[in-house]
Amino acid sequence: MNGNVIPLISEDEIHGTVRELGRQISSEYDGKVLHVVGVLKGAWIFMADLVRRLTIPVKTDFIAVASYGSGTESSGTITLVSDLRDSIEGKEVLLVEDIVDTGLSLQFLLETLWERKPQSLKTCVLLDKPDRHAAEVNIDYLGMTVPDRFLVGYGLDYDEQFRNLPYIGYIELKNHID
Ligand code: IMP
Ligand code: MG
Repeated sequence: MNGNVIPLISEDEIHGTVRELGRQISSEYDGKVLHVVGVLKGAWIFMADLVRRLTIPVKTDFIAVASYGSGTESSGTITLVSDLRDSIEGKEVLLVEDIVDTGLSLQFLLETLWERKPQSLKTCVLLDKPDRHAAEVNIDYLGMTVPDRFLVGYGLDYDEQFRNLPYIGYIELKNHID
């Protein structure tokens, strides 16, 4: 894939959105300790910025799932690649995800984490492609909705490339089936 990345969401726009999410989450969890769980790999850059906007006590952990190979379409089968390090039983948990496409990953994660009896479990998602949902998922804190394009940058990859772009853009893929 040698195509160009066409800018869609600027660095400033991303940071404004993350600041607003941070404000909202900090005020809603006031007086509590929040266990922020990032979904690897896509969410790590977003999570790093988000937690620095939280003014409440925060603990962090990560979980990794895979649904995509090197292509751009969900395989439909979600696998747990790497589990949390700590128990979330009785804790206030916020699951942080980069993007919801079909929603299958988030659905799998919510089912998996609810079984572990957290006190509460909410979701914070930077980007949502509402036209693509195949599963019912509840997004409690949403950054922005995006069109059905294959997005890269700010943690999002195409075949592990482009995660380091400070902005979000899309790539035109010859083999992308809409
Ligand atoms: P879902 O299970 O179809 O909702 O897909 C969720 C995961 O697929 C996300 O956590 C991303 O890692 C990846 N993903 C979905 N859409 C995109 C995209 O446009 N660019 C890069 N990765 C994506
Ligand atoms: Mg990915």
